[in-house]
Amino acid sequence: MASRSEPSDAGLRQRLLEAARAAREHARAAFSNFRVGAALETADGQLISGCNVENATYGLTICAERVAVFKAISEGHRSFTRVAVVADTAEPTPPCGACRQILWEFGGDLEVILGNLSGETARYQLKDLLPLPFDARLLS
Ligand code: THU
Repeated sequence: MASRSEPSDAGLRQRLLEAARAAREHARAAFSNFRVGAALETADGQLISGCNVENATYGLTICAERVAVFKAISEGHRSFTRVAVVADTAEPTPPCGACRQILWEFGGDLEVILGNLSGETARYQLKDLLPLPFDARLLS
């Protein structure tokens, strides 16, 4: 049972969604107007967030999830438990295919928590969003 100093899983998920929602405020989405925030939870409970950053050449745009993953990796984090993604959509928006691949590469079978601005949430395991992944095991 969680103690006062140890937040419950529900509390940790809420905290992660809040971090994703806050990161979304920093989105640079002048071309799509579709603002996304993401937050990764490290195995030792730290939160690393990201937002989508668009570019006038369109193709150089990077999604919020990948910004969060690359920030985390560049700061030395190596082990992750969950990721949250927040966008302003009627139904919570799942990560795009490219982000699923990157999340799998660095996070494995993460818990994926989706949220919208109305407070609706959904929860998946990454292996169910990316069945039959290509990964380093196939290169050996
Ligand atoms: N986007 C994300 O940040 N994450 C996703 O998983 C889906 C799409 C961004 C990319 C682009 O800036 C905008 O949303 C519209 O596709």
